[in-house]
Amino acid sequence: MVNQILFLGLVVALTCSIAFAFEPKPLQDFCVSDTSSSARVNGLVCKDPKLAQANDFFFSGLHLTGNTSNPVGSKVTPVTASQIPGLNTLGISIVRLDYAPWGVNPPHTHPRATEILTVLEGALHVGFVTSNPDNRLITKVLQKGDVFVFPVGLVHYQQNVGNRNAVAIAALSSQNPGVITIANAVFGSNPPISAEVLTKAFQVDKSVVDWVQSKF
Ligand SMILES: *[C@@H]1O[C@H](CO)[C@@H](O)[C@H](O)[C@H]1NC(C)=O
Repeated sequence: MVNQILFLGLVVALTCSIAFAFEPKPLQDFCVSDTSSSARVNGLVCKDPKLAQANDFFFSGLHLTGNTSNPVGSKVTPVTASQIPGLNTLGISIVRLDYAPWGVNPPHTHPRATEILTVLEGALHVGFVTSNPDNRLITKVLQKGDVFVFPVGLVHYQQNVGNRNAVAIAALSSQNPGVITIANAVFGSNPPISAEVLTKAFQVDKSVVDWVQSKF
């Protein structure tokens, strides 16, 4: 009997900790963000639900090809709570990804979201790396119609492995997933991380650090 109570307690504790690790579920039908409010809350302030309009839940533009004329050869078009005010508190968002031939969506992480990606056109080599100490790289080549998951918080990337443009759509489990692009955060921070720190972290000469920092 005591064992059963202990076991039940453990299950309840575990369930609660899992629930708390994710965004809280909404306590109302919706919370269309009030962009005119200056109040600071965890998320965005709701406007009066009586004033909500269809356009608060609407975005048009994911049919448009992103401009991939940039050094990495890819473009992300986000549709998060910033683009759709009605997404606020709902724990979901979507992005369109365009890739030039051999273009890369460089290693990055979403601190608040798992991502599920579907290839619409072309072929992508995708991968993510598990956390320390294993840092195991899990990769796959995807074709049109294939779906792949990037677990929350893990560093991941995609590369177009073809001589034509590629397109993907990805859904994310947060209305505000956040993006940390590793190279930009580490070598392009403002102000820069000191070269002393980066030379030790990457085990390279200062000239290498200076050179990489100059790229960002
Ligand atoms: C795409 O971006 C490049 C670089 O910023 C720019 O020169 C070019 O005009 C853009 N093309 C279109 C169609 O907007």
